[in-house]
Amino acid sequence: MKNFVVAIDGPAGSGKSSISKRIAKDRGFTHIDTGAMYRAITLEALRRKINLANEDEYTFLKNTSVIYKEGITYLNSEDVSKQIRTRNVTNNVSTTAKLKVVRDKMVDFQRESAKEGLILMDGRDIGTVVLPNADLKIFLTADPEIRAIRRCKENALAGIESDYEKILAEIKERDYKDSNREISPLKQADDAILVDTTSMSIEEVCNKIISLIDARL
Ligand code: CDP
Repeated sequence: MKNFVVAIDGPAGSGKSSISKRIAKDRGFTHIDTGAMYRAITLEALRRKINLANEDEYTFLKNTSVIYKEGITYLNSEDVSKQIRTRNVTNNVSTTAKLKVVRDKMVDFQRESAKEGLILMDGRDIGTVVLPNADLKIFLTADPEIRAIRRCKENALAGIESDYEKILAEIKERDYKDSNREISPLKQADDAILVDTTSMSIEEVCNKIISLIDARL
């Protein structure tokens, strides 16, 4: 089977997940949400009440499996798709995701998942570290204010109340941590195409990316 890989990176709320899901569905790609995997490890670390910043306390990783399949995140076979979206996980995930022991395990697994078929993987370091030879690399961005508005709307749809100022501050803090960490920081790959979604609708962004895929496929 043909192997064609699209890497989509960008900061929180830039639209990576919703856009990747739609394109995957429309075009028959397998979508892999790598953020969901870091969230699942963070959830497990929180459940075990370890010191999240201490790499030595992540011994549970040896016996932990995280799988993202067809929109569902499994942590040791448990469907944790809802639990990984709580504020507690969101506000702690950057601490867990910066650790080498965590990234090494996730990256091996992500590379393995991209070996066959039409793959669309979204995250922070896909175009730079995980899949540097991807056939198409997209870097999605948007102004932090619009990203915070999107997050509030997403929460409202899920029945979760949110405070815009707090969400904006949390997004900025996570951007800062993700972009300034030592290992695999969030940054645009040299050969990635920048798409600023600030004043674009989801449809417009999807159409743009689909036309880029079609041009290369
Ligand atoms: O959906 P949202 O934009 O809020 O974030 P996400 O894609 O679910 O990613 C959650 C967090 O996981 C990020 O803030 C990063 O700290 C981390 N992450 C990462 O380090 N590397 C990736 N490839 C994907 C996510």
